[in-house]
Amino acid sequence: MAIIFDSEKRVFRLDTPSSSYAMEISPAGYLLHLYYGARVPDTDLDYLRKRLTNASFSASVAEPEEHGMSLDTTGLEYSCAGIGDFRISALQIRGENGNAATDIRYKSHRIYAGKPSLEGLPATYANSDDEADTLEIVCEDCLTGAEVTLVYTAFTKLDAITRSVRVVNNGSAAFDIERIYSAAVDFNSFDFELLSLEGRWAKERTLVSRPIEHGLQGIQSKRGSSSHNNNPFIALAREGYTEESGEVYGFSFVYSSNFSAEVEVDCMDSTRVLMGINPSDFKWRLEPGEHFTAPETVMVYSDGGVGKMSRTYHKLYRYNLCRGEWKTKKRPIIVNNWEATYFNFDDDKLVAIAKDAAELGIEMLVMDDGWFGVRNTDNCSLGDWYVNDKKLKGGLKPLVDRVNALGVKFGIWFEPEMISPDSDLYRAHPDWCLHVDGREKSIGRQQYVLDMSRADVRDNIFEQMSAILSSANIEYVKWDFNRNLTEVGSALLPPERQGEVAHRYILGVYELLERLLKAFPKLLLEGCSGGGGRFDPGMLYYSPQIWTSDDTDALERLEIQYGTSIVYPTSTMSAHVSASPNHQTGRQSSFKTRGDVAMAGAFGYELDLTKLTEEERGLVRKQVADYHKYYDLIQNGDYYRLINPTEDAAKITSAAAWESVSEDKKQVLLTYVVMRTHVHVSRYIRLRGLDPELTYTDTATGRRYSGALLMNAGLNITGGWHDGESRVWHFVAE
Ligand code: DGJ
Repeated sequence: MAIIFDSEKRVFRLDTPSSSYAMEISPAGYLLHLYYGARVPDTDLDYLRKRLTNASFSASVAEPEEHGMSLDTTGLEYSCAGIGDFRISALQIRGENGNAATDIRYKSHRIYAGKPSLEGLPATYANSDDEADTLEIVCEDCLTGAEVTLVYTAFTKLDAITRSVRVVNNGSAAFDIERIYSAAVDFNSFDFELLSLEGRWAKERTLVSRPIEHGLQGIQSKRGSSSHNNNPFIALAREGYTEESGEVYGFSFVYSSNFSAEVEVDCMDSTRVLMGINPSDFKWRLEPGEHFTAPETVMVYSDGGVGKMSRTYHKLYRYNLCRGEWKTKKRPIIVNNWEATYFNFDDDKLVAIAKDAAELGIEMLVMDDGWFGVRNTDNCSLGDWYVNDKKLKGGLKPLVDRVNALGVKFGIWFEPEMISPDSDLYRAHPDWCLHVDGREKSIGRQQYVLDMSRADVRDNIFEQMSAILSSANIEYVKWDFNRNLTEVGSALLPPERQGEVAHRYILGVYELLERLLKAFPKLLLEGCSGGGGRFDPGMLYYSPQIWTSDDTDALERLEIQYGTSIVYPTSTMSAHVSASPNHQTGRQSSFKTRGDVAMAGAFGYELDLTKLTEEERGLVRKQVADYHKYYDLIQNGDYYRLINPTEDAAKITSAAAWESVSEDKKQVLLTYVVMRTHVHVSRYIRLRGLDPELTYTDTATGRRYSGALLMNAGLNITGGWHDGESRVWHFVAE
């Protein structure tokens, strides 16, 4: 068992291969946090909480057996508001008396093999019961009758512990949950840097770090999606950490809407981390007998720097979060017509692209935005999911049949959560979008957002999508989402439940995704939100790949993919070779470099294949062959970031390098891309993760190196590199 309970000391300890997590039940029933860090064998850990007991001005716990302990100065497992801990709290329930003081005490617990699913929510899962053990600690607030169950799962082969919380109203009156974080951890020092992934549209997930300070700091989304701006992930990295060394604690939230990650350092120099639904604009009414489940936070411990943390998340999210037919199945090479044609296409144009795809070995054509209603620009028709037969003459089936006859699969774009004011759907149901009566509705990309908390809205969209997907052999859906939520009100909910709309919205989206996958289980879903505006673990539960960014420039993608790889595996990052000059930046880059960069993701093309030169067609054939040759190594290998493209160019690191190493360490693929060249610079790349004892052969030159040499002295790549030039090395060990 990865979880033990020492009944004498009343201590729980959860172990993963390299980490331990411990907490204690105090005599009065408070859950006290004791430890999270490198693996330890002890349960006699009570001494860890004996810091300062009572402090001036802080209340102390009444029971004599607590020795005057103050909740304000003690590490707490799941702190509640209003009862003497003045730090930011994890739980706040407002009872029928109007007061929000919340006091939960231990009642019982249960330890069992395996991992439960979370009702209506995406979550990691165990493929078999021996992969994980679970602890449920049931606590109770006597006054409100709130039963609060803290759910922990420790993975047995990965350094990951998941957390979620369930609240049941066992009382006789309704209460409001005003904040409910999914995970809380108190550390007894503040010698950390806070890492996060910040960005904006077309520049998602840049890794940033800052030393933490006394007081509050953190990140959040209030956009109704996880957002381009802040990914639902933070890490605390112990001072002195590097990419490959030091302690790093990752917190990743399996959720696609408003989140908050808070870090507070108090006057005792201890650090509290909270991760969960953003309490801002959130309030959930629980009537007697009702229950609420908070989404899952995945905590990962690394004693090998940021790199080891990433590799743990990669494995967990690839094998224990993504699901279904396409979880590990080889993904087809896609050509998407968006940057090839935008709205300006018809069936013949698509068939012409498919014909070239077939000749070049590209396996699937994806028809993007513009095939439905009367949509020739982005100001209309969202919600009218029926074919524009002026563009697709004869309808969808004849087009799909023609594409399939060429040996090419067919995929389609939807934006299911949106409605254009200029649409038949809006004319018929003007109250189906999110809105607040009496207020002007804000428009974004000339569209409103459908109220996905409503079952009738979801039913309508499901029926429409279902009719399209059943009408032809469609094997892929790109699910887009192109604006943030405003005026988040629902026509069907009473005033006291309007604080639930944002969460109910995303539960509705999850329900629709689940329904679609049940009805079409073989479908490959690709998530998208104006690129990577909803690139989060919640969406990965339904769509095993997500369009990483609307910026398809290869050099920009180096930075975006670097940041994305901090949490997410290559198999999830959809990456396409696009035209040069690039449509977003105007930058020119070689066809080879564009291919080498896109190869570090779910690979495809985003250009007009009919316009390629003979030389470019040759390069596509080579890229397609490389894709098949290296697929297993890239998608199932361990990923190492070797050179950070976002570091200051003055430090000669205006380049990027990364590496995939097979599980048996016998195959290595190294990619190096120069972003801006410098004259007279020597450069060595030290490889990582090899077996020092093995001899590796460079398959292009036949040159042999020991693994020890490649990792310690490195590969000497000094030479005349040009801006934007890339190179790939393949090493094989006997
Ligand atoms: C935003 C997506 O990110 C693009 O790839 C494309 O699908 C457009 N939407 C279409 O409107």
